[in-house]
Amino acid sequence: MKVLYLIIAASFLMLCGCKNDGNLSRVTSPDGKIVASLYLDSCGSPLIKVIVDEKDYMTINHIGLTTHNNTNLSTGFRHISTSPIQTQQQTQQLLWGENKQVKVHQHSQRIKLQTQHSVQMDLELTVSNDGVAFRYCYDNIDSTLLTGESTTYHFATNGTCWSIPANFESYEFAYRQQPLSQTPDANTPFTFVTADSLWGSIHEAALCNMPEMTLVQDSLDSLSFHTWLCPDNTGTGTAAHYGPKQYTAWRSITIGRKAVDLINSTFNLTLNTHRSALNSLPDDQLSFARPIKYIGVWWGMHLGINSWTPDHRHGATTKSALRYIDFAAANNIDAVLFEGWNLGWEQWGGTQVFDFIQPAPDFDVERIISYAKDKGVQLIMHHETGGNIPHYEAEMERAFQWCQDHDIHYVKTGYAGGFPNRHLHHSQYGVNHYSKVVECAKRHHIALVVHEPIKPTGLRYSHPNLMSAEGARGMEWNAWSDGNTPAHETILPFTRLLAGPMDYTPGIFDITYQHIQHNPDCRQWNMKDARQCRVHTTLAKQVALWVVLYSPVVMAADLIENYQIEQPDGTWATHPMFQFFRDYNPDCDWSQALQGHPGEYVVIARRAGNTYYLGAITNERARSLSVPLNFLSDGTTYEAIIYGDAANTDYLTAPTNYKIAKLHVSKRDTLSLHLATSGGAAVIIRPQDAASHTPLRK
Ligand code: NOJ
Ligand code: CA
Repeated sequence: MKVLYLIIAASFLMLCGCKNDGNLSRVTSPDGKIVASLYLDSCGSPLIKVIVDEKDYMTINHIGLTTHNNTNLSTGFRHISTSPIQTQQQTQQLLWGENKQVKVHQHSQRIKLQTQHSVQMDLELTVSNDGVAFRYCYDNIDSTLLTGESTTYHFATNGTCWSIPANFESYEFAYRQQPLSQTPDANTPFTFVTADSLWGSIHEAALCNMPEMTLVQDSLDSLSFHTWLCPDNTGTGTAAHYGPKQYTAWRSITIGRKAVDLINSTFNLTLNTHRSALNSLPDDQLSFARPIKYIGVWWGMHLGINSWTPDHRHGATTKSALRYIDFAAANNIDAVLFEGWNLGWEQWGGTQVFDFIQPAPDFDVERIISYAKDKGVQLIMHHETGGNIPHYEAEMERAFQWCQDHDIHYVKTGYAGGFPNRHLHHSQYGVNHYSKVVECAKRHHIALVVHEPIKPTGLRYSHPNLMSAEGARGMEWNAWSDGNTPAHETILPFTRLLAGPMDYTPGIFDITYQHIQHNPDCRQWNMKDARQCRVHTTLAKQVALWVVLYSPVVMAADLIENYQIEQPDGTWATHPMFQFFRDYNPDCDWSQALQGHPGEYVVIARRAGNTYYLGAITNERARSLSVPLNFLSDGTTYEAIIYGDAANTDYLTAPTNYKIAKLHVSKRDTLSLHLATSGGAAVIIRPQDAASHTPLRK
């Protein structure tokens, strides 16, 4: 399929010669610095030229789809009409998000094209100060079997990019930093910086009823990347069934002059305003989708000291549940996740038939629910599907209803396992399944955290109950593989996190698994020996990740005993570095990435109410950072508490050394932060008069 695709695409390039006629549309960004012009080449194929700051940035060629019967829906067009430029300028209020107020300011135009055979293409082009996007829709096509998309992205210059490989089953890969010209294929968000120092990230928005798009390099032109859609399960080269009058997902390029501009952009997210295919609940019925902090019976299973099945290592027992609920209640933590609470784990790897209502025999669910309620703690139920989609689709309505009946509003889903009948995770079948679950959960007032998801494309904008997702290598990889490199978490904010929040599950304090070495069960259930595994950061970096890797449903992932320290008198006290999580408020109003470079370091500030949280992390290089605090309010003195690395912290030799420092700061100050190798710092900054007490959120 891939080879055939390359040959077809290469022959287009050779046959057409691609001389431009005059432009049929010219859309400039509100600040005039980005210009996207649409042309038809000499083959009648739509192309968009993008110019940024008066420099050639990218040409998007051969825009269109291909279908069976050799029908190529990207050539032979003539221009019918171009609409006047529309301006959209508004401020959207979100229920939750990095920024609750999102400003939309963009110009768009619709262009109608038609072939001799009366195939019509309606192309919509949108340009804002931080991006260019387009999508298109056909009318009057007789074949609805889509084989692919011919849209090709040609970079004007070479550059460097950060990406994971194109793969239709998983996103859990190590990131590659390489020249654009040496990148064979990639998934999106595909982040790059050009030789002209212009940043960008190619992604898609409002992915609905279509397979996901990935990119594959042209065999002749190393700076051109074709769109490669996830195929269906027929083995015939079909990618999707395209409906009558169906818009494609938006193809978007977020653009910035600095790397952090990509993080600060809401361009891709707001493209979801246009979606109408999915239903919507009024905001007042969505208040259940509230940002929360959580802990869970989880890490022990990945380390191998606990199990999901109800055997002697079973993690989710009534006893452990009550202990976790007590810990949550005592530490200003909203919720507890229990994996392995239900029946079905005994068939793991077999039929993958889970029961989403019946608890394991040693998990007294009714007692636990009522105990949690008394303590003001919420439960997060776990629905591992094992990839058995037909079974989950048959059961989910009942399962969500059961949660609703028990006043439970959070579910973590999982898709660890192949889909039946050779359907791929990221196919149209998969995309539609993930959407169905979001809608069904929404009807039952359930917020979702999806593992092994379809990559986020902004659906949370219309469906705020889709709160977080995995979709990259998360913390779990440190438990049973060589783990994530020190650079990994510094790349995520510039790549995966551009798509939406990530449930990375940070906060491991027992960095080298010291406390489980004595445990006979620490032999791993998968691949490796715990004695050879570890987390490749300092402890302070783990704390900083709570701020840096945005998730409105944020986990302190370690075993709760690691958040406590035994005192000389035998009592247990909270680990001083855990105070940050106790005080952290995930319901932020405002966020800004302040400085950084993928693979090197990143500094991000957030504000919830009048309290600021700042996170800074670095790769394997220690560094000192100066962070101007000019984002603080004028005329206020703040107390800043820095939870950081100590002078002698080193992620290889002394990862758990830390230093907590307090100082007074104002808007005019600059914070000096020392980050150890693979280190970090988390800072809480609150007005001095509010500083003496922990803000309780319940
Ligand atoms: C993979 C998920 O990412 C992880 O969080 C979960 O514990 C396991 N699957 C089991 O469901
Ligand atoms: Ca996973």
